[in-house]
Amino acid sequence: MTRKKVGFAHIICKNPRMQQIVRTAQRIANSDMLVLITGEDGTGKETLAQAIHNDSDRGNGRFVSVNCAALPDALLETELFGHEKGAFTGAVYSRKGKFEQAQGGTLFLDEIGEMSLPTQARLLRVLEEGVTERIGGGEPIPLDVRIITASNENLYNQVKEGTFRQDLYYRLKEVNLDLPPLRERKEDIPPLVDYFIKQYNKQYHKSIEGISDAALQFLLRHDWPGNVRELHHVVKCAVLMNDAQDTIWLEHIPLDIHLAESSRSKEDKAETKAEELLEILSLDEAEKRHILRILEFTRFNKSQAANILKISRPTLDRKIEKYQLHNIKVQEKLSKSST
Ligand SMILES: Nc1ncnc2c1ncn2[C@@H]1O[C@H](COP(=O)(O)OP(=O)(O)OP(=O)(O)O)[C@@H](O)[C@H]1O
Ligand SMILES: [Mg+2]
Repeated sequence: MTRKKVGFAHIICKNPRMQQIVRTAQRIANSDMLVLITGEDGTGKETLAQAIHNDSDRGNGRFVSVNCAALPDALLETELFGHEKGAFTGAVYSRKGKFEQAQGGTLFLDEIGEMSLPTQARLLRVLEEGVTERIGGGEPIPLDVRIITASNENLYNQVKEGTFRQDLYYRLKEVNLDLPPLRERKEDIPPLVDYFIKQYNKQYHKSIEGISDAALQFLLRHDWPGNVRELHHVVKCAVLMNDAQDTIWLEHIPLDIHLAESSRSKEDKAETKAEELLEILSLDEAEKRHILRILEFTRFNKSQAANILKISRPTLDRKIEKYQLHNIKVQEKLSKSST
């Protein structure tokens, strides 16, 4: 399978902490520093690892990814180190491990915290000696592989608990890039939405220009327990649900995030309500926002909007002119809500 080339240009972020992380990653991409990427599920750990690989001088080599949580320990060991013919019952052929497959490139070890202590010891030896050995003997094979590791758990706690080797921990985190959860960098939501819309426009031959103000506000209020991966899926669904319209409206946002929103605790909601009430707006700004909301609700059907607002159509036209509400460009809305 060929992997899409993801470079730093594909890491979308506005949040200063994220931008700092990306700058650090760019700076060390061409070095042999060992990088540990930490962060909750879906925060973009593998995407960042791919960017480091692709934008480095190893970019033409392979990016080999292994999820250490996906295999039982014995299998993980053969997967990583390979085996010689006859190393164990059933080893009819010799087989290259992932270390060897990644020669000249990068080996990404995801969920490193799940690796057993014996396999950790083997990994440490590889790092110290720069060679790998297949299970069942054979010659040591010199390695030219960059190792990037990732974890969604607190490895330092695991070190304290004795389930992760301290020497390996410090070795792996020569550089630690800790990705913040999406709820702590909501200014990244509008540009990410825009990026995913463009991606799926291309993939599904759609021509969606952007997202309505109300739908974007809704996304900005959500907590995103699944982080960027969850947002990615929501935008993908929204694009697919959208037939022949150029905007994503609230109704296109998948039902399960509406449900998550409505199951938030009463206290949470009371807090949001209080925040909304405390927002200080001029009368004009409040009028502008209300008119925009109704226009969105009616999909810019002005007669219907005038009816709901109980004003005449010419009055509505005047207000649209006054507040420059015609042709509000999605880009403007996106940048407005992200500042
Ligand atoms: N900053 C970003 N810019 C663009 N796309 C992103 C960004 N961060 C994450 N993504 C996208 O979000 C999805 C999840 O990212 P990724 O798989 O890198 O996260 P992860 O932290 O490795 O997740 P997991 O812990 O679930 O393995 C991917 O589809 C990726 O393309
Ligand atoms: Mg991952």
